[in-house]
Amino acid sequence: MIGVFDSGLGGLAVFKEVTKALPNYDYIYLGDNARAPYGDLSQDIIYQYTQQAVDYLFAQGCSLIILACNTVSAEALRKLQQEYLPNKYPGKNVLGIIRPLSEIAATASVNKNIAVLGTQSTISSNAYQVELQEQDKNIQVIQQACPLLVSLVEDSKEKTESSQSILFNYLAPLVGQDFDTLILGCTHYSFFHDQIENFFKKRVKIIENGQIIAEKLADYINRHPEFSETSTKQQKTFLTTGDSQKFDQAAEKFLGQKIQSQQIKL
Ligand code: DGL
Repeated sequence: MIGVFDSGLGGLAVFKEVTKALPNYDYIYLGDNARAPYGDLSQDIIYQYTQQAVDYLFAQGCSLIILACNTVSAEALRKLQQEYLPNKYPGKNVLGIIRPLSEIAATASVNKNIAVLGTQSTISSNAYQVELQEQDKNIQVIQQACPLLVSLVEDSKEKTESSQSILFNYLAPLVGQDFDTLILGCTHYSFFHDQIENFFKKRVKIIENGQIIAEKLADYINRHPEFSETSTKQQKTFLTTGDSQKFDQAAEKFLGQKIQSQQIKL
């Protein structure tokens, strides 16, 4: 069973593509909606919340967890992989999403100027800058934090006029800068994909989580067949720490299918 974890709804963008690309698995999606956004929290708290989510998902029977959240991937992944999993969960693994996105962006960019949008925490961590320059030291990175966007998505307000003007305020400083590739470095920003694409008049390549992570995960499982599964049930379970009705409404709109989540406590 594969676990997909995010602070809230954003990871659904990853979940949607991963379940399409790898249908023969059981999945649990866990959104910590009650405590989102994570993007303004300290690294210690983000680590602590992520560890609780990982414990929960492993206890449900997951063998592999995708941290479908850039903030968590930036602030908690390394410590989990290096210090927590080897002792407590040998044979299980947790994967992040920043490296895969950086690999694709580094190849996609022709002029080697890449812009990154992310939460305050992801941008301050410099995780994308480090990963991108590890791919190619000539890459110039322009970073822009967009702190209010996650809450707008969590409240299903991404299509309102005021959200649009908040979004455009974040994007304005990027106008006139010479980048050809833009990383949506927060899974929640997939909910704004069309607005962002239209703002830049389709002149930049937008690198976002869903499909890239799905392809990289399929490749990872090919190389690690111990995580391969053929489930007859192909069950999809949705868990939220927040209000399950609110979660269902937003998730159904995004996924285009009816779902029924359960509320849990971490
Ligand atoms: N979806 C998370 C990300 O990719 C949002 C983090 C937050 O809750 O602020 O960074």
